[in-house]
Amino acid sequence: MNLKRVLHKARSKNIPFYILVLFLFYIALKHFSRRPSAGLVPENLRQYLRFNEKHTIGGELTDSEVDRLRVQVEILNTERRVYNEKRFGRVLPETTTIVVQAHRDVERLQYLIVSLGQVRYIEDAVLVFSHSYYHPEINSLVRNITFCKVLQVFFPYSLQLHPHQFPGADPNDCSNSSNALCGKLNNERNARDAERKQHWWWTANLIFEHASWSYTYRGMVIFLEEDNYVLPDLLHMLKYAQRSVTFIPQVDVISFGRTYAKDLDYNLLTIEAWRPPYDKGLSFNKTTWRKIVSWLSVFCMHDDISWSYSLLHLFSRFPKGYAEMAACMAPRVLSTGMFPSGKKAVEVIWKRLEYSKLYPESVSAVMLFSQHGRVVRKTRLPPGSGGWNDLRDHLLCLDPLMSTITDPTEDESTTTSPVFVT
Ligand SMILES: *[C@@H]1O[C@H](CO)[C@@H](O)[C@H](O)[C@H]1NC(C)=O
Ligand SMILES: *[C@@H]1O[C@H](CO)[C@@H](O)[C@H](O)[C@H]1NC(C)=O
Ligand SMILES: *[C@@H]1O[C@H](CO)[C@@H](O)[C@H](O)[C@H]1NC(C)=O
Repeated sequence: MNLKRVLHKARSKNIPFYILVLFLFYIALKHFSRRPSAGLVPENLRQYLRFNEKHTIGGELTDSEVDRLRVQVEILNTERRVYNEKRFGRVLPETTTIVVQAHRDVERLQYLIVSLGQVRYIEDAVLVFSHSYYHPEINSLVRNITFCKVLQVFFPYSLQLHPHQFPGADPNDCSNSSNALCGKLNNERNARDAERKQHWWWTANLIFEHASWSYTYRGMVIFLEEDNYVLPDLLHMLKYAQRSVTFIPQVDVISFGRTYAKDLDYNLLTIEAWRPPYDKGLSFNKTTWRKIVSWLSVFCMHDDISWSYSLLHLFSRFPKGYAEMAACMAPRVLSTGMFPSGKKAVEVIWKRLEYSKLYPESVSAVMLFSQHGRVVRKTRLPPGSGGWNDLRDHLLCLDPLMSTITDPTEDESTTTSPVFVT
């Protein structure tokens, strides 16, 4: 609104002065109330919002396009170039790694990126995008990130790269009712669901074993998914949680997510047994990873399609019978999945956050005690939910980086991707 023009118009129309004053006041109020809340989408991060709710990416690839893509993905995975290293320095042994499991929901992913861009200390972290779907639009979004170091890796056993055979949907899968072998197991293989567990496991293996910095790595790895949204004090809380660990020994994992509830204390950490609602923003370091890997067969053979329930099962083999967790009482990683879109989710989230006190100056850790000592609420181990009894899935899971299985007998057209023998 141009003030001069308004004044001129008012004078020419003989509008009394006090009405004009009121009018201006109204504009000022309106302008003020329209201003986005502090964290919604700051000016410098607007560039990451490129896709609206209706935007979909995808489309069928021809067989030759799939072949070409496999080669390209393999090259990218071998290069593993870290972007923005010049500006933010190399990944150090204690650098925090934030891993994002991305598929193809770019609308939500862009809001996750916007939220990550607002995290204090993000410039010291490295962001790893692990994609189960390759698309130029997703890549341009990710490569345009300027606020921290970025690495992209691509899940080589994705449905996109194996559209007609295992690990994709395969004629031999038990989702095919005409497959006689499946008669007795009333258990279906859903390739898309299986991909999720495989992808998470492959990514964890890659970060801890095969990233260029894995060997000497001592930092924390935080696992996120594309339909997450992080609060700006995520890494601030990580510092507190890590410090608390020195007072409470044997904390295996730190969690930043749980179901949102009202009136939670933003300055409390709770120390308890880990369980799946805390799988959002799950984080741990190499010490815990080593323990996990020592039980990998439990993870890989447990007939449950969900990676977090499989992990719960694995943790039951830990000496205490569970994994000790330090978790933020008020979640710093929220899910946008239950909202119609990322945009809508972010509006609701910031409305809810209006009176919450982010960046607490001191943090307390609480544990449950009774007169007999510490009380640990252990969840009863549920039976596996199924969907994971295909031997091929077990084998891939047991050696996700394919370090031992290669099949030299296969013809050269498939040498770019490992082959599964059933
Ligand atoms: C990054 O964003 C800028 C401006 O928004 C755009 O011009 C540029 O093409 C983008 N770069 C990539 C690699 O997508
Ligand atoms: C199901 O299995 C049968 C026999 O193995 C095969 O002919 C058919 O193509 C399969 N269907 C699908 C959808 O994979
Ligand atoms: C992982 O964290 C634990 C607890 O903070 C610590 O004792 C251990 O040394 C860490 N592991 C590595 C590899 O730094």
